Amino acid sequence: MQQPPQIHVVIVGGGIVGLITAIGLLKRNVSVKIYEQARSFREIGAGVAFTANAMTCMEHLDPAIVEAVNAVATPNGEDAENPNDHLRFHDGYHWDPNDAENTDDKLLDLLHTGHKGFQGCNRAHLLDELVKLIPKHAVEFRKRLVSYHESGTARRIQLRFEDGSTAEADMIIGCDGNKSRVRQLILGEHNPAAFVHFSHKVAYRALVPMDRAEPVLGHFKAHNQHMHAGPDAHILHFPVTNHTLLNVVAFVTETDDWPLEDANGPRNMTADATREDLREAFRAWGPTVRSIVDLLPENLSKWAIFDAYDHPAPTYVRGRLCIAATRPRLISSPRARGIGVEDALALCTLIEMVVNTLSESSNPDSDTPALIEAALQVYDEVRMPRSQWLVKSSREACDIYEWKYPATKTDWGKCMAEITARSHKLWYFDIEGMLNDLRKGYSSRTSSLSEDAIGSNGLVTGEGKWEAVF
Ligand SMILES: *[C@@H]1O[C@H](CO)[C@@H](O)[C@H](O)[C@H]1NC(C)=O
Ligand SMILES: *[C@@H]1O[C@H](CO)[C@@H](O)[C@H](O)[C@H]1NC(C)=O
Ligand SMILES: *[C@@H]1O[C@H](CO)[C@@H](O)[C@H](O)[C@H]1NC(C)=O
Ligand SMILES: *[C@@H]1O[C@H](CO)[C@@H](O)[C@H](O)[C@H]1NC(C)=O
Repeated sequence: MQQPPQIHVVIVGGGIVGLITAIGLLKRNVSVKIYEQARSFREIGAGVAFTANAMTCMEHLDPAIVEAVNAVATPNGEDAENPNDHLRFHDGYHWDPNDAENTDDKLLDLLHTGHKGFQGCNRAHLLDELVKLIPKHAVEFRKRLVSYHESGTARRIQLRFEDGSTAEADMIIGCDGNKSRVRQLILGEHNPAAFVHFSHKVAYRALVPMDRAEPVLGHFKAHNQHMHAGPDAHILHFPVTNHTLLNVVAFVTETDDWPLEDANGPRNMTADATREDLREAFRAWGPTVRSIVDLLPENLSKWAIFDAYDHPAPTYVRGRLCIAATRPRLISSPRARGIGVEDALALCTLIEMVVNTLSESSNPDSDTPALIEAALQVYDEVRMPRSQWLVKSSREACDIYEWKYPATKTDWGKCMAEITARSHKLWYFDIEGMLNDLRKGYSSRTSSLSEDAIGSNGLVTGEGKWEAVF
């Protein structure tokens, strides 16, 4: 008997979610290749943090991913065996100059983040660990996807890259970030939902050596995760790299627009900035927050934050293309990484089901496209509500921290109730429930397929069409 042809998956983008998805597929013996437009995996060093829920998803994907994270993760608080399970919220703004000692940076509340809370990692170190789990031949750099082509008769999709080279795939997963090409190919280049839009927030990020941070913040604050809230801005910091560095992120409102393109062509999502700009933004804040700003380097970058709030995508799927974790949102606490890992788990689970169905198919070559399309429809149905909620909730959470969300304003009791409810929805996600929904959805969609198509000849998946001009 002939071996069924292996499914070959292409992942566009070699960020953390792209790598994790690839590792999950390799673990399931699925052939996969990552195409990354940069020259290497190294990216700007910034901190990332995963929730306990994201760690559980990684365990399902491949326990080796959890080991990779643990190898570089820094627990909240100094006692690794008994980490601090809380993110602490402080009022960074109000203070009385006559009584600074008692009024500056008052603790507002503690948010319970689950056992071990967030695991803060240095992004570059994590990428290094993840890369070790991926064979060299499964990655190509300097490949920028331009277009793809499906024909009614050929089983595989053709991909075309900017350098003129081509590749083939049974399906394409876009993990290609804010300016996602795959998102444009799914939604159409003239659709505003195919692009992210400026949220009028910029983030300044820096890693500060702990031996400089500690004398300023005190031992406890420097080694535990903190959020300092106030009007129109907030600052978050957490220890990374085994407590040798403090990761600081300051979110500030920017009233000017930030188009993706201007008269000179595409605009960078980052721009040069200075500590002076940030001093200005936090001029009226309390001494603690201003001393954090003083710790930052003189020359900084600011990152424009783009999100999908203004134009939510109606779908994340088209035929055999989908996007994972390419739903940029305002990440204003170390909480948002989990959802891309959930996407990765959903996709790996569905692809495994397709492989299992194919192993029993008498005509795998012609069944593959329809099974993958069915699987991706299930992905869209199951993941869409949560993803869209996240985009909306992230923007609103930012307003809550900054005391301008209409339902909570400056009432910190109400703010905290909202933050807690939203955080718990994010963290205490029913992973088993998601996996069940995927299994049910897949079997109902594919059982109807099998009645009229699977096993018979010539399953037609649509007329050949060029999705974008080469
Ligand atoms: C982190 O630092 C502690 C204390 O200095 C040390 O015992 C431990 O081995 C370090 N861990 C890593 C992963 O470097
Ligand atoms: C964008 O950033 C790159 C790399 O940092 C730089 O070389 C380029 O000049 C920047 N472009 C603009 C328009 O600022
Ligand atoms: C910051 O940038 C300014 C202007 O480009 C330069 O003169 C200065 O030396 C830089 N400072 C540091 C610490 O690199
Ligand atoms: C993409 O957007 C997110 C949130 O807006 C931001 O944190 C991230 O740094 C951006 N990535 C790039 C490569 O610009």
